[in-house]
Amino acid sequence: MRVLVTGAAGQVGTEIVSDLRRRADERRRGPSLDIVAADRAALDVADRDAVLAAVGTIQPDIIIHAAAWTAVDGCEADPDRAFAVNALGTRHVAEAARVVRAHVCYLSTDYVFDGTSPRAYLEWDEPNPLSVYGRSKLGGERELDGGHTVVRTAWVCGRVGANMVKTVLRLGAGPGGLSFVDDQRGSPTSAADLARVVVDLSLGRHPGIFHVTNQGATSWYGLARLVLGAAGFDPERVQPISTRDLTPPRPAARPANSVLDNAALRLSGWNLLPSWEQAISDLVAELTA
Ligand SMILES: NC(=O)c1ccc[n+]([C@@H]2O[C@H](COP(=O)([O-])OP(=O)(O)OC[C@H]3O[C@@H](n4cnc5c(N)ncnc54)[C@H](OP(=O)(O)O)[C@@H]3O)[C@@H](O)[C@H]2O)c1
Repeated sequence: MRVLVTGAAGQVGTEIVSDLRRRADERRRGPSLDIVAADRAALDVADRDAVLAAVGTIQPDIIIHAAAWTAVDGCEADPDRAFAVNALGTRHVAEAARVVRAHVCYLSTDYVFDGTSPRAYLEWDEPNPLSVYGRSKLGGERELDGGHTVVRTAWVCGRVGANMVKTVLRLGAGPGGLSFVDDQRGSPTSAADLARVVVDLSLGRHPGIFHVTNQGATSWYGLARLVLGAAGFDPERVQPISTRDLTPPRPAARPANSVLDNAALRLSGWNLLPSWEQAISDLVAELTA
């Protein structure tokens, strides 16, 4: 079986490739698992000809499509680029997959929701994105037909790339006070934990939308407190603020409630990912070792 990973140098793409390589090593005696890891330099998903040519040459059985323009505020300032990469890019991947009959697993986001629900979002709730990023990612979801996999995740933090855990560690090592918003709730999610489920769903060709996050929820303030404490800094150094107190204000609106009920996994009897506290404590230990 051959698996093509787009966005392979990104935060999640890197962990997906590591997870696949681990499984390929374990399979030495069974059916082989070939992995083609394509970063942006190797495959620009916004380029239709490039995607059709690459997929035609590679002939993957499965495409894990982790490439995206993920700069939420950047997308707000440049909607054309956001839609070219996130929506049209996914159209190209879907078209190429159709030609070679590959199964696609597309990574999507909690930001497809408006955050007004009083409860965690189900896979079957109506999306209503607040931002260009959210709209462009929802556009990508709609390029795939029902037989493919869509994994919506949230608040991802991993070893590679920029994320909130690394930001808090950097600020925590400095002298000053910190402030983080306390009126946006979500489930911080380990890129490595997420990758395992993405690979399981992809190799199993599970159709439909799946919400995949670490379990439990907190605010950015709660996340900052846990990171500081886990790294041996004083959690009392962080002050809670509200979104409207951010200076300067962020260009893109964020949902107040980003919590995703992992209902499709839960109702299918899958083991859910560990708590966000466990996942983020483990990541802090790894980053500070
Ligand atoms: N991070 C989160 O909190 C979060 C939350 C919910 C959902 N997601 C989704 O999870 C997926 C992975 O996100 P991530 O955290 O791994 O983000 P990331 O670290 O920004 O990775 C995305 C990768 O896609 C690449 N890319 C950008 N434009 C491209 C293009 N035109 N063609 C090919 N590759 C391109 C980027 O390359 P460059 O760095 O060179 O631009 C980057 O390596 C995305 O679909 C994202 O929407 C992420």
